[in-house]
Amino acid sequence: MAGLKVLFATSEVAPLIKTGGLADVSGALPAALRAIGVDVRILVPGYKQVIAQLGQHKVVATFDSLPGFPPARLLSGTMAHDVPLLVLECPVLYQRDGGPYQNVGGHDWADNALRFGLLSKVAAVLGCNESPLDWRSDLVHCNDWQTGLTPAWLHFAQGAAPSVFAIHNLLFQGNFPPETVGQLHLPPSCFSIDGVEYYGKLSFLKAGLFYADHITTVSPNYAKEIQKEPLGFGMQGLLATRRNELTGILNGIDTEEWNPATDPHLAKPYSSARMVGKAANKEALQSMMGLNLDPNMPLLGVVSRLTHQKGLDLLLEIAPRLAGLPAQLVMLGNGEAQMEKAVRDLSRRYPGQIGAHVGFSEDLSHQIEAGADMFVMPSRFEPCGLNQLYSQCYGTPPIVHATGGLADSVVDCTPETLKDGTASGFAFLGMTAENLFATIHRAIALYHDQAKWKALRKNCMAKDFSWQRSAEAYREVYLKVLGRRE
Ligand code: ADP
Ligand code: GLC
Repeated sequence: MAGLKVLFATSEVAPLIKTGGLADVSGALPAALRAIGVDVRILVPGYKQVIAQLGQHKVVATFDSLPGFPPARLLSGTMAHDVPLLVLECPVLYQRDGGPYQNVGGHDWADNALRFGLLSKVAAVLGCNESPLDWRSDLVHCNDWQTGLTPAWLHFAQGAAPSVFAIHNLLFQGNFPPETVGQLHLPPSCFSIDGVEYYGKLSFLKAGLFYADHITTVSPNYAKEIQKEPLGFGMQGLLATRRNELTGILNGIDTEEWNPATDPHLAKPYSSARMVGKAANKEALQSMMGLNLDPNMPLLGVVSRLTHQKGLDLLLEIAPRLAGLPAQLVMLGNGEAQMEKAVRDLSRRYPGQIGAHVGFSEDLSHQIEAGADMFVMPSRFEPCGLNQLYSQCYGTPPIVHATGGLADSVVDCTPETLKDGTASGFAFLGMTAENLFATIHRAIALYHDQAKWKALRKNCMAKDFSWQRSAEAYREVYLKVLGRRE
């Protein structure tokens, strides 16, 4: 189809607003789609941070009477690579101090159903006959529960475009009390098991999974895992029923943002052909994090949300043994208060060997990818995961639990895979502290064999994780969905 037009509705987009990988994907995939000729526009809520960075913009629509919602406006701006951006401005819902989903105290905003109900609603309006814009999307690409009601509203609308619902993480479901159905003016008939109802609640996620014309998720392996317990998180039955309309597409990475040869956050640039700069980054990182300056000490890095999903409790458990190996560890993360405290305590107990920064820092995340020798990511589950992709590009082999996208993107280092040039990290099965420790131990042993370590790093850096291939796979899905409609 010539000039395929897609509305990409998302609750976060880098660099404007980011809590995790969804923002990275929303920042990069639309640009990659445009590069292959798809006319994509991004729709995002006008959070304080977004409005502050918007720059030149026009008001392109007003929504004064969407039933159940406060008045809102649509502002049009532009992102990098000339990707058009539509910002949904509704100050009473979005212009606040705090994050997109939670207040500064770390609690979910009490009116999230309304906040993301509006985002979902406007995405649906822009995809049907009611759209006030000249530009009409052929298809709406929704992301996670925050846009889950879009496919439901489109289902009941006139002249509606089909929808694709992308799962980035099934753990987050957007479940709200049943009264919400009335408050948001959803058709009462949709509150049923064949609809948006989920154990007596309104589930935004289930709405997306049930009504979308097609479902995607961010790795082929996760697409299989979620059709069963435990990783289906209650949606496995529905997902298994829809398995023929479920496609796993591995995320790519923004190779302009994440390239050690041009990364402005680094102490020194480097590349596969000129690796010398990596040592300077290690030294800078050791110095910055208060670690002993030792070029030969294996340095492990972590950049992560500190939540149960990420499995870092196992790493904290074995950290004293790691320090004894010896090895060094740097951790950057924020999240659950208890884990933040554990990370801080650990770095106090092992000065010179374990360094931590509790918080969110784009700079430091790049510096860790570059300065560490290896990257640890023992996630209990991981739909795709981006840090293990970044770390491979930065010649910092990842150590991962072989789940979801981690299993799809990291090839475990064995004598065979090292020989055939596919090895790109270390992976373990069986989510135990012992298995994690044994795998880190294995990685450190290889680190001390410099010839093999160099070969492993070279493999990592030769891998192509650019978005182009994934963008083509999304375009194929769009075309298939549109073909089916006709
Ligand atoms: P998830 O989206 O589940 O958190 P991903 O690996 O897909 O996991 O993406 C996480 C993204 O967020 C990466 O870009 C990572 O660098 C970034 N990130 C996570 N925690 C932090 C932090 N504390 N500071 C800076 N960046 C972070
Ligand atoms: C989610 C997942 C992560 C994935 C990201 C982007 O946050 O937890 O695995 O990489 O979305 O798709």
